[in-house]
Amino acid sequence: MTATTDLFGHKKLPIPDTEGIKYAGSKLKILPYIFDIIAGLEIETVLDGFSGSTRVSQAFAKLGYNVVANDIAEWSETLAKAYLLNEEKPQKYQAIIDHLNNLQGYEGWFSQHYGGIESSNEKHPFQLKNTMKLDAIRDEIDRMGLNEVEKSVALTSLILAMDAVDSTLGHYVAYLADWSPRSYNDMKLKVPNLFVNKRKNKVLKNDIFDTVKGQAFDLAYFDPPYGSNNDKMPPSRVRYNSYYHIWKSVILNDKPKVFGKAQRREDSRDGVAASVFEEFRKDDKGNFIAMQAIRRLIKETNAHYVLLSYSSGGRTTKEELHSILNDSGTLIRAKEIDYKKNVMGNMRWTNEWINSDNKNTEYLFLIEKNRK
Ligand SMILES: C[S@@+](CC[C@H](N)C(=O)[O-])C[C@H]1O[C@@H](n2cnc3c(N)ncnc32)[C@H](O)[C@@H]1O
Repeated sequence: MTATTDLFGHKKLPIPDTEGIKYAGSKLKILPYIFDIIAGLEIETVLDGFSGSTRVSQAFAKLGYNVVANDIAEWSETLAKAYLLNEEKPQKYQAIIDHLNNLQGYEGWFSQHYGGIESSNEKHPFQLKNTMKLDAIRDEIDRMGLNEVEKSVALTSLILAMDAVDSTLGHYVAYLADWSPRSYNDMKLKVPNLFVNKRKNKVLKNDIFDTVKGQAFDLAYFDPPYGSNNDKMPPSRVRYNSYYHIWKSVILNDKPKVFGKAQRREDSRDGVAASVFEEFRKDDKGNFIAMQAIRRLIKETNAHYVLLSYSSGGRTTKEELHSILNDSGTLIRAKEIDYKKNVMGNMRWTNEWINSDNKNTEYLFLIEKNRK
């Protein structure tokens, strides 16, 4: 656990350690600020609506909140089931992990598409010796008759182990020309840093609009994907479906048809609109479609508080964002986080800050809904 510093010198809960893969937009570094901004609020039930790496969900669960983790991605669901639904001591999984580590590797679907040897001219995300182990371990997981949580723990362990020996910049749309030093290591599974959940947490793999229907929460935390604000390079936006296609294949083990140099799954093609939040175009009234989706989401969410993460790489104007934040609630706290200086300051609405500084600044907005 790492201790947090309270802005006002109050005694704060330490932020629990979390575990995860390399993930674009992971809020690992933001965790202390999230708990800072909600300090003093009466909160028991929490929705992490775009749970991604599950770092935020893990932290809330470890602190004893009742958590619903939701994301449309398979990998997020698997990680969340392992960390949030486990009620057993971590040692219970050691025998499964030992069994999987002892398997003999072979050249299967993953090796065929993603495994490279040192002398190869083509770029690959992993060394062949490690994809061979991946092939053997992944097939065996399906044969072991594991229950839902055990299978999620085994898959989480496999994904974490592959992530530790990758030769990438943290995504799978293009691979490095030279092998990364870590790719030479032998892939080895470990029991993930699980904890015994005392609460009945829930894990969902839904479009967020379906998840918020008919459910109430004390706090809803929203960290949607934000498109790039670089008009000249729309492809630079993060598209989770294409960035992490490989984890989807590891989870489903469906050996899909692949395309292109990066050997992506057919269903991760750019033409397939994965999410309205990744939409970078404007509607016919000139408003960004993704920002209008956030407006609608806040409106349709039945929560006492909504906490919204926003990054300055996102696309909006100050006026549009202000209007969204006050449309169906009251903005009660707003924080601007400077990673490098490791500080959080109160936001100054008077400054032209959105998209104006070329820095990747993070913002947190706390909205109170249903104010009596
Ligand atoms: C910025 S990331 C979230 C990062 C996360 N807070 C963390 O700390 O790792 C955005 C996430 O939104 C998910 N997503 C995109 N569209 C969605 C939708 N319509 N409903 C639910 N999740 C969605 C993506 O799969 C991605 O994991």
